This record gives sequence, C-alpha cells and structure tokens, in this order.
Amino acid sequence: MDADLIKLVNKLQDTFHNLGGELDMPQLAVVGSQSSGKSSVLETIVGRDFLPRGQGIVTRRPLVLQLIHTPATEGSSYTEWGQFLHIDKRFTDFEDIRKEIEQETFRVAGQNKGISKLPIHLRIYSPNVLDLTLVDLPGLTKIPVGDQPSDIEKQIRNLVLEYISKPNCVILAVSAANVDLANSEALKLARTVDPQGRRTIGVLTKLDLMDAGTNALDVLTGRVYPLKLGFIGVVNRSQQDINEGKPMEDALNRETEFFTTHPAYRNIAHKNGTKYLARTLNQVLMNHIRDKLPDMKARLNTLIGQAQQELNSFGDPSLFGDKNQQGALILRLMTQFARDFVSSIEGTNLNIS
Ligand code: GDP
Ligand code: NA
Ligand code: MG
Repeated sequence: MDADLIKLVNKLQDTFHNLGGELDMPQLAVVGSQSSGKSSVLETIVGRDFLPRGQGIVTRRPLVLQLIHTPATEGSSYTEWGQFLHIDKRFTDFEDIRKEIEQETFRVAGQNKGISKLPIHLRIYSPNVLDLTLVDLPGLTKIPVGDQPSDIEKQIRNLVLEYISKPNCVILAVSAANVDLANSEALKLARTVDPQGRRTIGVLTKLDLMDAGTNALDVLTGRVYPLKLGFIGVVNRSQQDINEGKPMEDALNRETEFFTTHPAYRNIAHKNGTKYLARTLNQVLMNHIRDKLPDMKARLNTLIGQAQQELNSFGDPSLFGDKNQQGALILRLMTQFARDFVSSIEGTNLNIS
C-alpha cells in the first residue's frame, strides 16, 4: 500500500540528485525532556532493540534514522540490517548497532555528557518496517552536568529547533504522563514552530507510572491541549525491563494488554499504543508527500527543461569528440529517466487508505 508511494518518492529524490537538484523530504523528529522516553518510542516504532536508552542524558548527538522497507528474500541469511554513513559495513546484529551508536557518540561528543550537533546517519533495511525517516534528538534539559557548557539549555533548544522548525518536519512531542502536561517542554517548544498544532503529534509515555487513582484520559481525548493530530498514549519498557533484556514482542503485548484492560483506557485502546502510533505516522507522512507532489513535479519539469537545453547545446554529436558524445548520451538518458518519472507520478494512485 503506502510503501509504494514512498518508494516512488525515494526514487524521485534520487532523480533530483542525479539532475543536480534537491528535494526536501519530510522527517519525523522526537522532542521532549530528558528521559521522557523519546528513544524508547523510536525504538518500538522500528520494532528492534538498537538505540541506547536509559536514565540521564544518553542521546547526545542527533540520530537520523532512515527506515527502508525491504521485502524478505528467500534463502537470504539476513533480512534486517543496519548501515551507517560513517562506516562501510553491514550490521546484522542490532546489539552491534547500539554499540556503534554509543562509540560514535563518545568519539565526537566526548565521554562526559557533552552533546554535539553533528548527526549520526543510520539506515535500517527490514521487511518489518514502514518507510520513515526518524530523528532521535538529545533531550531538553535545564541544568548543565559533566562537560556540558553553562548554556546547555539554549544549545539543545537550538539543536532541536534546527530540525523541528523545518515546515516539513513532523514533530513527535513526547511528554511523560507522570509529569504535569502544563510543564511539558516538548509541547512548549513544538508550539513555537507549529503554533496551530498542525504537524505535531502528542505522544504520552509512562502511562504505567501514573499515581494510582489518576489517569490521562482527558489528555488522550484532546480535551486538555489542542493538537490537530491528537495525542497517542504508549507504554514503553521500564528501566527494569531494559536491564532484564525483556523482548520487545513481550513489551508490545503487555502494552496492548495495558490499554485493553485499563478501566479508563479500554474504550480508546484502539487509538493508543505503539502500533497505532506507527500507523498514524505513516499516514501523516503520506499526506505530507501527497501535498508536495505537485510542487515536485513542477520542479522536475524545470530540471528536465534545463537538461534538454543543455542537451541541445551539444549540437550534432557526430561532430564532436568522444567526451562530448558521452556527455550528451548521459544527459539524454537522465532526461528520459526523469520523463519516465513524471509519467509514473501521474499514474500513481494517491488515495490514502
Ligand atoms: P529519552 O531520554 O527521552 O530518550 O528516554 P529513554 O527512552 O532513554 O528512556 C528513559 C528511561 O525511561 C528509561 O529507563 C526507560 O526505560 C524509561 N521509560 C521510557 N518510557 C517508559 C514508559 O512508558 N514506562 C516506563 N515504566 N518507563 C519508561
Ligand atoms: Na535518557
Ligand atoms: Mg534518548
């Protein structure tokens, strides 16, 4: 279904690149206070253990994570793997991916709680993911620790803003349910770049840690804070679950059970949880791309026109030497490729299911 459209757009992006243009694609970025559960949320969306998580500041560099849906191939020894931009190696063990992220973090951001704005780029190829680009970001914090500079709050804020202020960034504003929503740094910051709440999804974590006798029904049903895309509640693995190496599958089952059996959430269980969040994200991304398609097409047509002009300027290829002939041939192929592309876009069914 949706994966086809994303593939098309990925291909379109390559075409632009070949033609010397650029295509600004939507990304999803997580925003929230330190330890609100950002990395945990991203990890459960991916469905694999591979992100460093824990108490205190763990995520110290942006992680740009591109999920690429890859059909399982029969007889292949591995169906899921990771690939970093900084190292030419296929990672099939996700524990090694986590170690590599940790090492890369230490290498650039130092040993002692410092942060760096230099992103780590990671692609995950898997038959089990939806096509999404996600950005994990350091948490918003107020008080410097370790090697952090005195203006750490401002530095992290600016770093996060670099990602979320882009109009085509979908913001996952993560707040912990056991902290008053009025104090949510995620929502405060998201509001500065998306005042009307059009591209912000509220994610409420730690519902399992709320005080007995309280619940977040009002927040989850949109009665407390208005967001066009709403709030989705999740229950991630606790620190104890992480320490005990609790499998993700178990955690997801327990999450489903949490919502379906909870007296306050039973009736809204189908609109909460990690799986629902992943589906919502995909749909939001699709809508985003669909809105961009007319503009992409126009830009592509311009690039085709430019390439065509350049092609014509080569004149009769038989009058030129080898080098020019090759150039003309490449341009011709690229132009043809781009043309095919435009027609394939026109043939795309853009109905979002
Ligand atoms: P980040 O700093 O925002 O990236 O947060 P992490 O994902 O690293 O999580 C911080 C800590 O909170 C970890 O110990 C997680 O196990 C714990 N945690 C995150 N989400 C939940 C949740 O929904 N329930 C419980 N019980 N613990 C959670
Ligand atoms: Na943390
Ligand atoms: Mg984190």
